[in-house]
Amino acid sequence: MTASALLAQIEGVGRDAARGGYSRHVFDSAEAELREWFTDRAARRGLDVQTDRNGNLWAWWGTPGPDAVVTGSHLDSVPGGGAFDGPLGVVSALDALASLKAGGFTPARPLAVVVFAEEEGGRFGVPCLGSRLLTGAIDPDRARRLTDPDGVTFADAARRAGHDPERFGPDPETLGNIGHFIELHVEQGRGLIDQNSAVAVGSTVIAHGRWRFSFRGQGNHAGATRIGDRSDPMLPAAATVAAARRLASGMPDARATVGRLVPNPGGTNVIASTVDLWLDARVPGEALTPALVADITGAAREAAAEEGCELTVTEESYSGTVTFDSGLRDRMSGLLGGVPALPTGAGHDAAILAAHVPAGMLYVRNPTGISHAPEEFAEPSDVDEGGRALAAVLRDLAR
Ligand code: GLV
Ligand code: MN
Ligand code: MN
Ligand code: MN
Repeated sequence: MTASALLAQIEGVGRDAARGGYSRHVFDSAEAELREWFTDRAARRGLDVQTDRNGNLWAWWGTPGPDAVVTGSHLDSVPGGGAFDGPLGVVSALDALASLKAGGFTPARPLAVVVFAEEEGGRFGVPCLGSRLLTGAIDPDRARRLTDPDGVTFADAARRAGHDPERFGPDPETLGNIGHFIELHVEQGRGLIDQNSAVAVGSTVIAHGRWRFSFRGQGNHAGATRIGDRSDPMLPAAATVAAARRLASGMPDARATVGRLVPNPGGTNVIASTVDLWLDARVPGEALTPALVADITGAAREAAAEEGCELTVTEESYSGTVTFDSGLRDRMSGLLGGVPALPTGAGHDAAILAAHVPAGMLYVRNPTGISHAPEEFAEPSDVDEGGRALAAVLRDLAR
């Protein structure tokens, strides 16, 4: 069964009628259904499925052990996301292992497909939570205390989904088994359209992070409160959105986004008492992301003071620039006939693992150039080409 056919099997799971696209979040019912589906499909391919102590799913070809060649991605999505970001890497991995098996390949080391938990941070705010916990990149106590928009903690959500949150944390045994990690992913920009290629290898992931800005003012009546008497937190919040765009526009290749803003209590005829917004900032070059965030924070503080509001800024996650293993990158590119190497502004579990093991990425062309939205796409012929490339790389690494 091809990767495209596998993707078609899950096209009904986690559809979001209100937003369009998919909302599949860690430990929710859609994600549970996908985990079950993955477990079943992996077992049918003769793979041995296990869940690690951090809620990541593994499907092994051979006995788990050192120097394994591991591939995979994630099954969760952003709110209203596309069908390919995450699942494409998982179905391509299942398909690649099946095709190697069917071709009579005998690996000299174990192979595995992994599905990482909460890659998008779509429910608990910190992206790549499963791989961060596995590698020790996040304090498990902090992870357990993270809350979703309904106030449910990551620990409680995990418990309800049948995991033991007390076991969350660095897992040197599982990490120690990974000899190489390869993640195939739909491309999220226009790089492969511009290069006129179906497939690329990853070169770098630019520094990126998320910051929460909490503005506190005075909730009040929209009709009875004179303009001059207001401390409306929506004003500095709006100024911060505009400052983020203005300041990022002044830095080469910088991105700054406010995609989420929550006024409380959120009534048309109510001046909000608080507004929370989340800034996503990404700038190539090591010190530049924190510098941009500092400038945006300065503008936010000024606007808050002007309106008589308080502001608290909290860093929720930050990842520095990652350069993928150049030997592995060149080996993959050579094996695939010299496909281009692409930098990306998107974060990935492969970039978290890259601090510990040789890790690499394969990108599959996205003809819309749109991602984190329902229009995200990959042509079946490009999906097939990506799958063949992945199988070739896995075969080369596992022989
Ligand atoms: C995850 O896809 C991210 O980079 O936001
Ligand atoms: Mn994504
Ligand atoms: Mn992804
Ligand atoms: Mn990602």
